[in-house]
Amino acid sequence: MGNGIAQVAARAGYDVLISDVSEEFLQRGLTAIDKSLQRDVDKERLGAAEKSEITKRIRTETSLESLRGAGLVIEAVTENVNVKTEVFQTLDRIVGADTILASNTSSISITKLAAATKRPDKVIGMHFMNPVPVMKLVEVIRGMATSDDTYEKVRSLTERLGKTALDCQDSPGFISNRVLMPMINEAIFTLYEGVATRESIDGIMKLGMNHPMGPLTLADFIGLDVCLAIMNVLHDGLGDQKYRPCPLLKRYVDAGWLGRKSGRGFYEYGSQ
Ligand code: CAA
Repeated sequence: MGNGIAQVAARAGYDVLISDVSEEFLQRGLTAIDKSLQRDVDKERLGAAEKSEITKRIRTETSLESLRGAGLVIEAVTENVNVKTEVFQTLDRIVGADTILASNTSSISITKLAAATKRPDKVIGMHFMNPVPVMKLVEVIRGMATSDDTYEKVRSLTERLGKTALDCQDSPGFISNRVLMPMINEAIFTLYEGVATRESIDGIMKLGMNHPMGPLTLADFIGLDVCLAIMNVLHDGLGDQKYRPCPLLKRYVDAGWLGRKSGRGFYEYGSQ
């Protein structure tokens, strides 16, 4: 999702630095940005010169140190509390005292991530939705110590990005994934129990509920590893059996069938 966030920020006029662990991942991100912007050029919603200006505003680096001068950092690393905590500790050491550290986490406690830093008042959740250039929402989550100043700055930044900020308390899965993910998990249970085929399950929710994608297609789109990680956060954090991840979801993740990104999930995909 990091490249989608970078694209939207550069399009809004910000200078953006993307930091990732390898050149390969950075190149993949830049290719996705180029493809997404080109789609708008082809549809005559963006001029070719404007596209070139946007891409010029995006730089890439493999080291976190390169973020030293950033006014705001939006973290979008893997949905794992230990990895995120380590990134927040490192960023806290590197960036200036006034820099806001936002997390694009889809379920992990902002309060916990903030507590790993010496600036908990400047830590906040900015939860974007995929595909970021299309989806209007940013769920804004304040941790226990997030200051009013940080919150106001992030709300006005969200508006400048052309998105709508909606507030949510720091609770497992926030609103988006507390409501969405049990629906996806239940759809996986119906497949697991043989209640219907994958096509029927998705078709029923698309045609009957007017959802743009069926829940199994959406799970593949989000990533099955991400879905499992979110279900685990809900299960651990809320302690209710109704959030237990479906065994079929666990089995797919064990098999490395992670959805679109791995070429196979509930459906099969050609090379991406
Ligand atoms: N970049 C830029 N534009 C894109 C895009 C991308 N990556 N993907 C799609 N679009 C644009 C298209 O250009 C098109 O624009 P116009 O209609 O204005 O011409 C529009 O989106 C629709 O695209 P398509 O016609 O190609 O395909 P579609 O109608 O099937 O829509 C979709 C694609 C927008 C992804 C739609 O299927 C959808 O809304 N799906 C559900 C997405 C969703 O639920 N996202 C949230 C996931 S949860 C999450 O992200 C958070 C989490 O924590 C897990």
